[in-house]
Amino acid sequence: MDSRPFRSMLYIPGSKERAMEKARSLATDAIIFDLEDAVAVDEKANARELLAKTLMTSEFGPRAKVIRINGFDTEWAEADLEVIAQARPEAILLPKVNSAADIQALADRLEARAQTADTVIWAMMETPQGILNAGEIAAAPRMAGFVIGTNDLAKELNCRFRADRLPMQYALQTCLMAARAAGIVAVDGVYNAFKDDEGLRVECEQGRDLGFDGKTLIHPAQLAIANAAFAPDAAAIDLARRQIAAFDEATAKGLGVAVVDGKIVENLHIVTARATLDRAEAIATLQKGL
Ligand code: COA
Ligand code: MG
Repeated sequence: MDSRPFRSMLYIPGSKERAMEKARSLATDAIIFDLEDAVAVDEKANARELLAKTLMTSEFGPRAKVIRINGFDTEWAEADLEVIAQARPEAILLPKVNSAADIQALADRLEARAQTADTVIWAMMETPQGILNAGEIAAAPRMAGFVIGTNDLAKELNCRFRADRLPMQYALQTCLMAARAAGIVAVDGVYNAFKDDEGLRVECEQGRDLGFDGKTLIHPAQLAIANAAFAPDAAAIDLARRQIAAFDEATAKGLGVAVVDGKIVENLHIVTARATLDRAEAIATLQKGL
């Protein structure tokens, strides 16, 4: 799996020059430059030209750059790919993916151009068919990550938005399961009420507890909350260190199990503890460059 942090992935409409410029100084782990639903029909052509130019002339530092093109069932997708290819994109995010065949079709197009020989694919998981095919989609060629499209999913399922996201749990967990089975990144859907900090915090923490790597965001004001929720906090880092020390001590005595805070610590917990420390270090390194 990509060891880069994806705590925050900020959507920016490819038509908004000022917002793209602003992103160069924002503390976001990744940017999703959007040509799909955040761009109006009349703006599609201008947005793709502006985005290609921006990607070729502006520096975004260590932030991962992911470009959401339109789907191949629309009239815009081929041109999106043609124009964006000039900028040698590191990752393309394909919307409304239904099956591995959709990914294969994009992979074939990337293969056909020298500029996109190394471009990886991310999939929007937001249709009932896509959720049912999550396993094969995650395992398809060039796949690097899932973004959950909770707004489209709610529309398709005809479910309600609830604070506990109960109607969404099957889809969220199916995607996570598929992502982990294939070793790719999984990033949670957006929180629409971008002025409701407390609601966002609760939803970030739920996504984190489920196992997501981070959250997609729509406004810069949401960044700090997502970045904090998806980073190991001081208590988690301290516990990981103490578990490793206690386990080393137990091993030296020829024991296979240690006890920390009244709970057993076995080899598998040490794998998690080391992953926590590695993640904290990767975040600290990335943060220096943001
Ligand atoms: N990325 C980067 N900068 C952003 C931004 C974003 N997603 N959203 C807002 N900003 C910037 C604005 O440019 C503005 O900067 P400025 O003051 O230097 O000009 C500042 O943040 C404050 O913006 P604000 O006035 O609070 O927001 P708004 O009313 O202009 O826009 C939204 C609100 C929701 C329309 C806007 O945030 C947006 O377009 N978000 C992305 C939507 C999207 O991509 N959706 C698709 C996926 S769900
Ligand atoms: Mg969508």
